[in-house]
Amino acid sequence: MQRALERSAEIELAIDKDPSQFRVLTGDRPTGSLHLGHYFGTLQGRVALQERGVDTWILVADYQVITDRDGVGPLKQRVAGLLADYLAVGLDPEKTTIFAHSQIPELNQLMLPFLSLVTESELHRNPTVKSELEATGGRAMSGLLLTYPVHQAADILFCKANLVPVGQDQLPHLEQARVVASRFDKRYGRADSKTPVFRRPEALLSKASNILGTDGQKMSKSRGNTIELGMTAQETEKMLRKAKTDADRVITYAPDSRPEVSNLLLMASMATGTSPEDLAAQIGDGGGGALKALVTEALNDMLAPIRQRRADLLANEDYLWQVLERGNQKAREQAVATLDEVRAAMNMDY
Ligand code: TRP
Repeated sequence: MQRALERSAEIELAIDKDPSQFRVLTGDRPTGSLHLGHYFGTLQGRVALQERGVDTWILVADYQVITDRDGVGPLKQRVAGLLADYLAVGLDPEKTTIFAHSQIPELNQLMLPFLSLVTESELHRNPTVKSELEATGGRAMSGLLLTYPVHQAADILFCKANLVPVGQDQLPHLEQARVVASRFDKRYGRADSKTPVFRRPEALLSKASNILGTDGQKMSKSRGNTIELGMTAQETEKMLRKAKTDADRVITYAPDSRPEVSNLLLMASMATGTSPEDLAAQIGDGGGGALKALVTEALNDMLAPIRQRRADLLANEDYLWQVLERGNQKAREQAVATLDEVRAAMNMDY
């Protein structure tokens, strides 16, 4: 973990020197709406990479939706919402390639040779898969849940990405992708040659955003404690009115002893750029009510332009589907080229 953090710092410097040596791939499962945790945790970082001139690819991981549930839900609507979120926060389809699993058959086909490179016991050992299985509350492990880290390796490797911005929980998946890449090249005689088929992707660890939900627990849709980018100002106010605080009317920033109050201060701080300590001093002995009013205003002010753009985009869904189609075409060209290389390495180039 420490090593991964140090390496990420080195990579940051290398990006400043020469952004063109990197291709970034990351993505989201379209299972719900993006919220403030996503915004501070990953979306702002993606926009920054894009603006620094890094070739950025973003995957709508629709096939990953069915790893741990029975159906896809209102998938199309969710994908439209996700696309609107992406563009509203500043991802620019002229610079960033946005595409979806289900539209790139050649990416998915990589799953076959890749599965032959990993053992069943390795798959069972993946700690992220284990905790995701636990979170399903007693469901049987599906074959896709067990093997999705290999599919995710295909996501990363097909497009020759060498950088993956991830949270800590995704580190095992990245290791899996590196293992698959090097085993493939070794097995098919590319290990020592100058023509490896795959790059070895590295993690760019996102600084954990530290933002918790309105109840002081991890922000997550299933807990009903999120502030979604697409909520109205009134809905945001209502969520914050329900937020947990404590009995001490003097507001202070003390993450260890006052996690809920401190989390609200942190949200307002991230939205305004003022330190949480200064915000606490401004509120003084105004209590939870004043704190909530301040956070509500800070978040609604920050989100207002994003929400406006989001609503405008959703009013013209055709445009969103065009953006996705363009990204799909580009991703597909890359996937076709990579699969050709894979077939050639495997003597399947008839
Ligand atoms: N597993 C990621 C998530 O749930 C989404 C994802 C799919 C992804 N494929 C990826 C992330 C490849 C990084 C790289 O958020």
